[in-house]
Amino acid sequence: MPDRLMTEPRPTGPCAMVIFGAAGDLTRRLVVPALYNLVISKLLPEQFALIGLDLADRSDEDWRQSLREMTAEFIRAAGQEAKLDENAWSWISTRMSYLQGDLNNPETYEALKAKLSEVDATSGTGANYLFYLAIADRFFGPVVEHLGRSGLAQITDHYWRRIVVEKPFGHDLESARALNAQILKVVNENQIYRIDHFLGKETVQNIMMFRFANGMFEHLWNRDRIDHVQITVAETVGVEKRGKFYEQTGGLRDMVPNHLFQLVAMTAMEAPNSFNADAVRSEKEKVIEAIRVCKPDEVSCAAVRGQYGPGQIGGKKVPGYRQEPDVSPDSHIETYVAMKLTIENWRWAGVPFFIRTGKRMAARKTQIAIRFRGSPATLFRGTQVREPAPNWLLLRIQPDEGIALEFGAKIPGPVMKLGDVRMDFKYKDYFGATPRTGYETLLYDIIIGDATLFQRADNVEAGWRVVQPVLDFWTSNTPANFPNYSAGSQGPSIGDELLAGEGCAWRPIN
Ligand code: BG6
Repeated sequence: MPDRLMTEPRPTGPCAMVIFGAAGDLTRRLVVPALYNLVISKLLPEQFALIGLDLADRSDEDWRQSLREMTAEFIRAAGQEAKLDENAWSWISTRMSYLQGDLNNPETYEALKAKLSEVDATSGTGANYLFYLAIADRFFGPVVEHLGRSGLAQITDHYWRRIVVEKPFGHDLESARALNAQILKVVNENQIYRIDHFLGKETVQNIMMFRFANGMFEHLWNRDRIDHVQITVAETVGVEKRGKFYEQTGGLRDMVPNHLFQLVAMTAMEAPNSFNADAVRSEKEKVIEAIRVCKPDEVSCAAVRGQYGPGQIGGKKVPGYRQEPDVSPDSHIETYVAMKLTIENWRWAGVPFFIRTGKRMAARKTQIAIRFRGSPATLFRGTQVREPAPNWLLLRIQPDEGIALEFGAKIPGPVMKLGDVRMDFKYKDYFGATPRTGYETLLYDIIIGDATLFQRADNVEAGWRVVQPVLDFWTSNTPANFPNYSAGSQGPSIGDELLAGEGCAWRPIN
């Protein structure tokens, strides 16, 4: 299996990619712009074909045109002066074709099979196929079964077949297990790429580099030197046009067992023996496995929820969650979640990991904040130096990607006074900023067959196991005071109380 430590990108071999849900938002906003970026970086194979499959009847040209517009829009939105690169667009668009089909109809898969054979013959794609399921999750299992029945998922020594499954992977532990079982009856685990798009973010991938390529911090990275960890994924957006989906899902399912737990795993994992996909995923799995699963009567001390009411963001009035389209006016769905995680292993015993995520918060911020234990302040007794502030290491995942270290320094002058200072590394200062969707690395990795950044079946189930008691408790106990935070605020006070109980306080979201 490929190893991630490559000095040069590994060349990608011939293949055809099929996108189920070709007309959908994900395809248009993220997948195709990411493919375009891969063309610019010359990371797609010469023998490449892209087939879009969806229910609507449309022509190849019509599909290409709609994707061209979205890709151009992506470039504009990234604040680039550059326009769509016509050569790159022509490279990809001449390899695109559209197929109309109903996902539930076996004939669709026969037509797809014929189309793929044709593409193999004309484009030299070598019968290597990547099936990307950018569709509603209820279709994941059935589509994989159809692919199996039609023979399209069958592998041999001469070609590969891979299936990419988007989130949500199940709605709870039971459905995630059932979906894994359904899929794994048809294909092998190593043919399945379960996407968590957070793992496509450069700054998330850098957590491992930062920890394991720098000897400086690793020996401080444990219960002896770390007081607690705070992981925040705050968004200013509301539920936008996804009210229907969100009413079924809520903030816990949407963000915690997947994105938040990936950040926890990256922060807390042991060094893997290598950057081999299974070595890395096994270490991550061990962390999630070590998180204490609450008993029902412990849930309220370990997890709290909130829902935004009307408020102001960036000087503009915004509606509350209950006033959003497709949301029930007395909805009890949570848009904010905070949890205290206890990792029961040798390295982290006694170090709380606090996680929180919310929509319509004061600012957009995804950050891992590590609070180190304080210094013994005895030396400063009887001086004007107030108790030295604790040291923080901040891994800024987005926006303003970077890493900062906060510590105390003497304020120049005749008296001993301590000021708080910050050393700050910004990615853009060193590496520039290129517009990326976050899907580029993920797509490239699937084509070269590197599953490191994808969730294994056991990773997914381990995440659901931890949140299941919270889901159960919240389903049977309706919150009385929703909405309990204003849009544009720091979240509900109950989130602050969760930390106050441990003598800690959240870092402000600003
Ligand atoms: C998605 C969630 O998985 O992640 C969304 O469904 C959320 O609700 C999004 O807004 C956040 O991702 P990002 O990349 O914008 O931080």
